[in-house]
Amino acid sequence: MDGVGWSEVPADEVTSTAARVLERGDVILFPELRFPVDAAESLLFTPAILGSSKNASYDPATRRLGGTTATGRDAEMLRAFIHRFSESAAALVARVFPDYAGRIARGRASFRPAEIAGRQSSWRKDDTRLHVDSFPATPSGGRRILRVFSNVNPAGQPRAWRLGDDFDAVARRFAPQLRVPPPGVGHLLALLRVTRTPRSAYDAQMLQLHDRMKADEEFQKGSPQSRVDLPAGSTWMAFTDHVSHAATSGQYQLEQTLLLPVDAMLDPDRSPLRILERIKGRRLV
Ligand code: SIN
Ligand code: FE
Repeated sequence: MDGVGWSEVPADEVTSTAARVLERGDVILFPELRFPVDAAESLLFTPAILGSSKNASYDPATRRLGGTTATGRDAEMLRAFIHRFSESAAALVARVFPDYAGRIARGRASFRPAEIAGRQSSWRKDDTRLHVDSFPATPSGGRRILRVFSNVNPAGQPRAWRLGDDFDAVARRFAPQLRVPPPGVGHLLALLRVTRTPRSAYDAQMLQLHDRMKADEEFQKGSPQSRVDLPAGSTWMAFTDHVSHAATSGQYQLEQTLLLPVDAMLDPDRSPLRILERIKGRRLV
């Protein structure tokens, strides 16, 4: 979608189609929506601020930073940088999706200064493998995961993604392997503080789906997929709990996570929750 700015009201053709195509499983790319970086902030553009973490995270509700070794003035600059993106991303989502007005909650944001290609990680954490997003410690309870990304690479390097098959097809392929945990397990996990809130049967299934997708070499190589280069200076968004995605290369990206209740969708039947419920023939939250 062209001609969308950080603070102007988007054209009618944007607001009338954005929610529909997003719910269908598309990625919406704003090819020229560059997130502005201040000259002084360039000192944050190094993987050295991460220590052993994958990303530096920021919780807009508490203003707390995570995953960084930055301290003192550098930490304040990092906080202000991600905070500015978090505010911009939330304002953009509010303007582009008037249909979701008042129903979207803002989750965490992150800054990702590490090069993805060649990074060592366990298969479960390896985002170069196709997957759908699901959070082990913060169950969504069925809510949709809407993410906004900006490629802020200063050298003009794109972020390369792979996009995979329809959620329906992926869910049907893996459904026989997805187990519904015994009653009580979800609450026990919260009691033991493994999760922040009880893990629903839906969240348990989505975590297994994430893992089964990443672990299946034949699926990774042989399933329908296409490569997209997301240009430096662009912004894009997707329901990443629905869109099969993998990030194969790129460095320096900002991300904001937002959560949307299923009943706030134009068509709740397209949610992963309802799709999995149809396949499993039972309620999952
Ligand atoms: C992911 O959500 O899997 C990673 C996206 C990215 O860092 O480009
Ligand atoms: Fe992901």
